[in-house]
Amino acid sequence: MPTTGHVFIATSLDGFIARSDGTLDWLLSRDDPTEDHGYDAFIATMDCIVMGRGTFESVLQFPDWHYTLPVLVLSSTLQTIPDHLQGKVTIANLPPTDAMQHLATQGHDRAYIDGGQIIQSFLRARLIETLTITTAPVLLGAGRPLFGTLPADVPLIHETTKTFPSGLVQSTWRLA
Ligand SMILES: NC(=O)c1ccc[n+]([C@@H]2O[C@H](COP(=O)([O-])OP(=O)(O)OC[C@H]3O[C@@H](n4cnc5c(N)ncnc54)[C@H](OP(=O)(O)O)[C@@H]3O)[C@@H](O)[C@H]2O)c1
Repeated sequence: MPTTGHVFIATSLDGFIARSDGTLDWLLSRDDPTEDHGYDAFIATMDCIVMGRGTFESVLQFPDWHYTLPVLVLSSTLQTIPDHLQGKVTIANLPPTDAMQHLATQGHDRAYIDGGQIIQSFLRARLIETLTITTAPVLLGAGRPLFGTLPADVPLIHETTKTFPSGLVQSTWRLA
């Protein structure tokens, strides 16, 4: 069975997932810990994670490695994995289709796809099945975009929208 790709990501209202320098202060300052934004429920339905080098380098700055699922980092430049992540993280220089075929041969059904450029390339390859996007009530004006160019329209079916007292709005779409 082919591995399917699933996105769970937060953006500014104008569609940025990070400032140009990679910082997330605009998001973290709006993350009310008393609200359940559904990450735990989402990740419980995934069996592996694919992330771009940009996202990997960003999560490496956090004090702890908080992923329990195997992580595949896509990069043409990274060569080594930090010692403490051996056995948890694999680096591969593969295009999206080959990466998903590699995961399928390993028995993975559902991959969490993370990172703006990576999501864009997986969308172009039609390898995303669902998108859950949490929008923060702020305009950044510039930054790292979630979406980019596409070879053709990608029609979506809207599934749910939830609003939170903090002002976050979360919607889920399925690719038609
Ligand atoms: N708001 C959120 O919820 C959220 C979630 C995740 C990440 N982020 C933030 O977003 C930033 C990272 O996102 P990003 O868009 O800059 O980078 P990204 O998508 O995480 O990584 C892009 C890098 O992945 C490598 N790559 C390998 N195969 C690729 C392919 N098929 N398509 C595209 N890239 C490929 C390239 O690195 P090489 O040059 O090594 O080949 C490329 O520069 C970080 O600041 C992170 O904190 C925010």
